[in-house]
Amino acid sequence: MKAWQVVEHGEPRDALALVDAPVPEPEPGMLRLRVAATALGLPDLFMCRGTYALTPQRPFSPGQELVGTVTAVGEGCEARPGQRVMAVSAFTTRHGGFAEEALAFDHFAFPADPLSDAEAAGFLIPYHTAWVGLVRRARVEKGESVLVLGAAGGTGSAAVMLARTLGARVIATAGGPEKVAFCRELGADDVIDYRSEDITAAVRELTGGSGVEVVYDPVGGDAYRAASRCIAHEGRLLTVGFASGSWGDASVPHLTAHNYSVVGVFPSGYDRAFKAAAQAELMELYRRGEIRVPVGAVFPFEQLPEALGELASGRVKGKLVLAGPGQVA
Ligand SMILES: NC(=O)c1ccc[n+]([C@@H]2O[C@H](COP(=O)([O-])OP(=O)(O)OC[C@H]3O[C@@H](n4cnc5c(N)ncnc54)[C@H](OP(=O)(O)O)[C@@H]3O)[C@@H](O)[C@H]2O)c1
Repeated sequence: MKAWQVVEHGEPRDALALVDAPVPEPEPGMLRLRVAATALGLPDLFMCRGTYALTPQRPFSPGQELVGTVTAVGEGCEARPGQRVMAVSAFTTRHGGFAEEALAFDHFAFPADPLSDAEAAGFLIPYHTAWVGLVRRARVEKGESVLVLGAAGGTGSAAVMLARTLGARVIATAGGPEKVAFCRELGADDVIDYRSEDITAAVRELTGGSGVEVVYDPVGGDAYRAASRCIAHEGRLLTVGFASGSWGDASVPHLTAHNYSVVGVFPSGYDRAFKAAAQAELMELYRRGEIRVPVGAVFPFEQLPEALGELASGRVKGKLVLAGPGQVA
């Protein structure tokens, strides 16, 4: 089968090779899918560079979230051959989604209808992360204000739309006028262009000095520091990721003195029943048209290095998707 593999560490055009690889056999609890589409994420870029904590041993296929048809099931799986599912890949087995066939976790696989391939590929990780963060960990209530950092990105855009459905006032941050306009289209009430405005000062002004109750932070670094200085008394600062290249550096003296909490967010740590309940609620919101997957572009399978290069450029709004081999982009 055709597979993109990381064969050396570096930028995608040097790290990746398109090879003919054996079809993988699913382990217990895993599915094999014929891939229709795979969404791109920053971890794929970091795995090419070898800087991601979960980078498998080379050669391996990256690609964390995908949609496809089940072609084989390991022991103890609920999904059945022939089903069309969206799923989180088992890329740590070295058989991620940028291939003709890939392995995925049965406990993180759900029916893909009525989503298109491009939308289904980019649904699970952004929305389950936003769900665990906003609903489960922060318990956002109607009328609270939520600051979403990196709001034009994959999980940031999902957090903007999900926070709106919870009745929150959403303040988004993004870099540059195009991303600011995109965040407004997603439904953010206010958008701060951090390239020309100071996040801390702008949030204080927008909230009459009281700060935001909840921060959703997939960026880390300076953005985390700015947000920790405009969080409300008893606020919850959700640490999601480190798109900036470094995690937020939580200061225990600061959070103690200002009575706020720093809260970790990791959907993979929840069991099948939790994920299934979250998925049912998310699909209901999707069917009602309250959330969607903003697909930035779909690239043909042969163009993975170019697609990851585009992700690295920082220009992307929403999710980039790679079509499966032989699928129409
Ligand atoms: N905890 C979890 O389970 C979980 C789940 C999903 C994602 N994540 C993590 O969350 C982070 C974001 O993921 P994502 O899929 O939302 O990424 P993404 O789609 O690339 O979006 C990241 C956003 O961060 C901003 N950013 C700031 N500095 C950046 C930099 N130096 N390089 C790139 N982007 C930068 C960009 O917006 P501006 O240009 O507007 O600054 C960009 O839109 C990653 O670290 C990922 O691993 C964690």
